[in-house]
Amino acid sequence: MKTNLRTILLAVFSLFCFISCTTEKTHQNEKDEFITKLMNNMFVEEKIAQLNLVTPSAGTGPFKTKRVVEKLQEGSAGNILSVMGSVERIHKTASLADSTRLKIPFFMALDIIHGYKTIFPIPLGLSCSWDTVLIEKTARIAAIEGTAMGYNQTYSPMVDITRDPRWGRVMEGAGEDPYLGSVVARAVVKGYQGDDLNDETSMMACVKHFGLYGASEAGRDYNTTDMSRLTMFQYYLPPYKAAIDAGAGSIMSSFNDVDGVPATANKWLLTDLLRDEWGFDGVVVSDYNCVQELIAHGVAADYKEAVKKAMDAGLDMDMASEGYSTFLKNLVNEGAIKIEQIDQACRRVLEGKYDLGLFEDPYKNYNPEKPAKVILTEENKEVAKLAVCKSIVLLKNDNNTLPLNKNSKIALIGPSVDDQFEMFSMWSQTGDRQSVITILDGIRKLNENVVCADGTFFTDDPDYLKNDGRFDEAEQFKKEKEAVEIATKSDVIVAVLGESIAVSGEARSMTDISLPGCQVELLKKLKATGKPVVLVLLSGRPLTLEDNLQYADAVLEAWRPGTMAGAGLADVLFGDYNPSGKLTMTFPRSLGQIPIYYNHKHTGRPYIEGEKSAFKSRYLDEKNDPLFPFGFGMSYTSFGYSPISLSDTLMSGNTIQLDVSVDVSNTGDYAGEETVQLYLNDPVASVARPVKELKKFRKVFLQPGESQRVHFKLSVEDLKFYNYELKWDWEPGKFIVYVGTNSEEIQKASFVWNR
Ligand code: GLC
Repeated sequence: MKTNLRTILLAVFSLFCFISCTTEKTHQNEKDEFITKLMNNMFVEEKIAQLNLVTPSAGTGPFKTKRVVEKLQEGSAGNILSVMGSVERIHKTASLADSTRLKIPFFMALDIIHGYKTIFPIPLGLSCSWDTVLIEKTARIAAIEGTAMGYNQTYSPMVDITRDPRWGRVMEGAGEDPYLGSVVARAVVKGYQGDDLNDETSMMACVKHFGLYGASEAGRDYNTTDMSRLTMFQYYLPPYKAAIDAGAGSIMSSFNDVDGVPATANKWLLTDLLRDEWGFDGVVVSDYNCVQELIAHGVAADYKEAVKKAMDAGLDMDMASEGYSTFLKNLVNEGAIKIEQIDQACRRVLEGKYDLGLFEDPYKNYNPEKPAKVILTEENKEVAKLAVCKSIVLLKNDNNTLPLNKNSKIALIGPSVDDQFEMFSMWSQTGDRQSVITILDGIRKLNENVVCADGTFFTDDPDYLKNDGRFDEAEQFKKEKEAVEIATKSDVIVAVLGESIAVSGEARSMTDISLPGCQVELLKKLKATGKPVVLVLLSGRPLTLEDNLQYADAVLEAWRPGTMAGAGLADVLFGDYNPSGKLTMTFPRSLGQIPIYYNHKHTGRPYIEGEKSAFKSRYLDEKNDPLFPFGFGMSYTSFGYSPISLSDTLMSGNTIQLDVSVDVSNTGDYAGEETVQLYLNDPVASVARPVKELKKFRKVFLQPGESQRVHFKLSVEDLKFYNYELKWDWEPGKFIVYVGTNSEEIQKASFVWNR
């Protein structure tokens, strides 16, 4: 009887596989047939138009394209970025395709980076939730809102690994770790693209910036990146690969050079690695004006040579430079570029549009009534509020200053406590400012006993400076005095400080990332009142707080929190949400330590804090360890960890799994979420391996007194790394496994794994 049943099940499964493979093949054949037929009917100019991306807005780049409407109408441009305004206006722009001979729909692209109209915390903040379900949900909402307005492609996720907080764009990514960065990349691609790109709420993701852009030297934007292939493959490339493997429909070449060749002209990067090794078959679009910038890079003598180099490297689409539309036809006529290269790039663009369903019905999303129904809904705002709560990281909480009592008299100090704009980032250009819950609104909703004062300015605030450009001491003194007065009459001070929106994001690198202006002076004066001080940091990057934490009893990092800023922050301040965020980027003690990251090498002379030996890898004037390590984040409760338990300590062969488990207990008074982190170290290998690498994590929610055994399964896949020959493999021997609440507070155990 059993055999019959198994036979039947096997037959059904085989039939299912056959049907699904056949369906897939039919779909692929239909797509190929459609596009081949279309391309056979296209002039070379029309093919080149598909490779041309124009933009009517200079909002995210050094210039805008001229005559955008005419170019779209006459068919010399086939894609548009950053058209803004009403759903009708966006539709009107998309409809310009109907005036072209073949009516090929446009990619309607936009930088939807952390929300379209409902703005979520910046990606660096969101990544501190370590909550991939939530992260995917935020991208899904952004796609629903963006597609309702008529966009069909977003230039997101940004997955650049970042180890240098001087770089203004660390706000756009998921921090320093390749494993976490890869997990987040997959979630974001899935959120935007959904299960089927053809769905009316799906938009094509564009993973960026390929590649290594986060390693811009000295944290200076658009600067050189230079690293070994080993470092590339081990640390910087995995998140791009993860996004590709998750099905991202497009990828963006970055401004910087890779191994001395700008990404946009780098054949090894865009073709050998991306296409031949990784099997990517989507669209490669350049970043803003990158084709023309090959001249400035010094790899092209003139514009025409720049175009040839980009096309030869494998760039499909030229953003904003118009080099492709200006020179490609000549280059083909001169035989410098083969028509097959144009055809290949054009086919990829048309395949992307086909996958989006644009040829079936380019205006399937067009319904002027739809935006009001799906944008800034209460549900979207609830998700945004939870995202604020989960992105906030509790960095300090002496004497259980937090959570606050809802009856306490609060002095709320800071230049942005009632400012809606400052809750956004530079990538929130479509956000709805009026809908932002300010920090004052959020707190007042839970506790009306709050009085506020600016206390100081943001250093880019025009009022900050006299007309001779010098700092206005008298004005600052007045603001401080007012703040100290209300602080003296309060039970607790909530000081909201940090950096303004103006110094975080693209082209906003900083050499000084400490608390700016007079914020430290203000903090000292507030602390001198003797009242408990809660410091809330608004920033797009880790800040160097040096020894200023002594002026605060509790510290929360709230990033740039977005639409539901005040609502989420208030829930955390008053304990309606127990903070669970964990840093995904190291906080240095001081600027001089940068770059500083947790997965560093031992070196031949590792220094142990406090040892006397002089000849060790250390500074004379600063500690080696960070202010707050990767994975760090406190809770209002406390979590206890049992010693690590291993299902075995001696393994051999590559088919088995090792079970690593710990009992995690909530040993405090509040229910809370803990992110249990598992790191591995390979102490002896053919290349020097990092002191530890994040390999797994698990989120658990525990009531006070509750315990849960957390299991992790390890296989030889988790032991693999890139060896000197860049082969992804593992090497037998001893391994050390760490499990804990962050990359420093961990327990360890060891095991041996033989071939
Ligand atoms: C910008 C950014 C990129 C963005 C693009 C389009 O320069 O580097 O992240 O997607 O241009 O706005």
